[in-house]
Amino acid sequence: MNKPLAPENHQWVPTEDGSYTLFSEAFQEACHSTTGAKEETQLHYIKGCQIKEKSLKNSELNILEVGFGLGIGLMETLTALNDFSGSWKFVSLEIDEKLLQWFKETHQDHPLLKHLEWNENNDQKILSCSWDKITIDILCGDARKTLPFYIQKNPIHWDAIYQDAFSPKKNPILWTKEWFKLLKNSSKLDVILSTYSASSSIRKSLVEAGWILSKGDKFGPKRTSTRAKLVGESDPDILLQLSRSPVNALTDDNLSELLRK
Ligand SMILES: C[S@@+](CC[C@H](N)C(=O)[O-])C[C@H]1O[C@@H](n2cnc3c(N)ncnc32)[C@H](O)[C@@H]1O
Repeated sequence: MNKPLAPENHQWVPTEDGSYTLFSEAFQEACHSTTGAKEETQLHYIKGCQIKEKSLKNSELNILEVGFGLGIGLMETLTALNDFSGSWKFVSLEIDEKLLQWFKETHQDHPLLKHLEWNENNDQKILSCSWDKITIDILCGDARKTLPFYIQKNPIHWDAIYQDAFSPKKNPILWTKEWFKLLKNSSKLDVILSTYSASSSIRKSLVEAGWILSKGDKFGPKRTSTRAKLVGESDPDILLQLSRSPVNALTDDNLSELLRK
């Protein structure tokens, strides 16, 4: 891989599948598992959200990514949907404006991404491009503010959600019951939410927000991960394990307040 200079306050980290991830100084964490940034993304998000299967059934797809990072989720989605003849929209959420500017500048040779432009609408900064049947909108700012505002202006329902914030310890505000309620309320009934985390606290947040849980694939040193839907029954093993766990769901009074406004 021919790497550009890392963005400000980030360092490149090699991973075992030959791809690179970034370490964030602000969050003191790497964006991906060092077992493989690309493989982890393919497993948890492309396979975990059944992107290919959904593209065979639907003529339109709406995908939400929580945490844009260095854009591996977007790049892998572009590859997975290369033959998709329907229209699709990829919306991603990123608080670090410099990271988005870096992504824009380092993709000037890409046939689609070279069209990325900043748009500013009612105080919301969005890095976006539209080409043929593909629309990409990367919302810049705290996701708890940008997402509700975006949904209000662009009524949209998600087919797939890549829940890829930093870990619940480092980035708790994007793993709360209120956050998962917001995601649920803007999803289609057959949505799949997928995440690398299997922590009891985030699973409790999901259950309390009304999501139905199953175990996802293992990757690297992690024994399992989490998939969530809005229909069916949760895996009884997960419910039993949660009933025995002393940890609480994560909560966010600020988001409840914001959503009431
Ligand atoms: C694990 S990385 C995402 C990796 C990315 N999906 C990829 O494939 O490259 C998490 C990202 O979430 C962003 N983030 C953290 N808190 C946020 C917030 N409150 N709102 C929006 N983005 C946030 C971080 O800046 C970071 O880039």
